[in-house]
Amino acid sequence: MNPIHPALAPLAQAARHMPYADCVDALRAALRAPAWLRPEHRVGDPARYMRHVLYVDPEDRFVITAITWLAGQVSPLHGHQVWCAFGVAEGELTEERFDASLRRVETRTLRAGHVAERDVDGKAIHRVSNRGAATLVSLHLYGVCAAKLTTGINRLY
Ligand SMILES: [Fe+2]
Repeated sequence: MNPIHPALAPLAQAARHMPYADCVDALRAALRAPAWLRPEHRVGDPARYMRHVLYVDPEDRFVITAITWLAGQVSPLHGHQVWCAFGVAEGELTEERFDASLRRVETRTLRAGHVAERDVDGKAIHRVSNRGAATLVSLHLYGVCAAKLTTGINRLY
């Protein structure tokens, strides 16, 4: 078993059963008491949002990552090739959601402790950004093996 912070262990346990079980309660618990969040997770990359790998499932079913967003940073418009779930550990996250025609249907702001999404069938299309002044740290689960972490998650438009 890979080392894991105890505050993330229940989340990893729930993720083992995704996408057929629910991980929202475990995700919310990890967001409301983010003892796993280390100082380096608040250090972003001025060039683009920065992904920190927190845990890799030894059977290659999922990864847990933190993503650090400096003020003003934004993701591309994207869907997902794999199941995913995420929420906010620190800061304020803006999520714009789009329909299949790429029309924006919703813009919402999520704060620390909030679960943003659980996309089990890869239908969600969204764009995530940090419109606040403070650094944003989000917590993500992706149903992808570590080897495909950079190429196997997002579906770009
Ligand atoms: Fe996404």
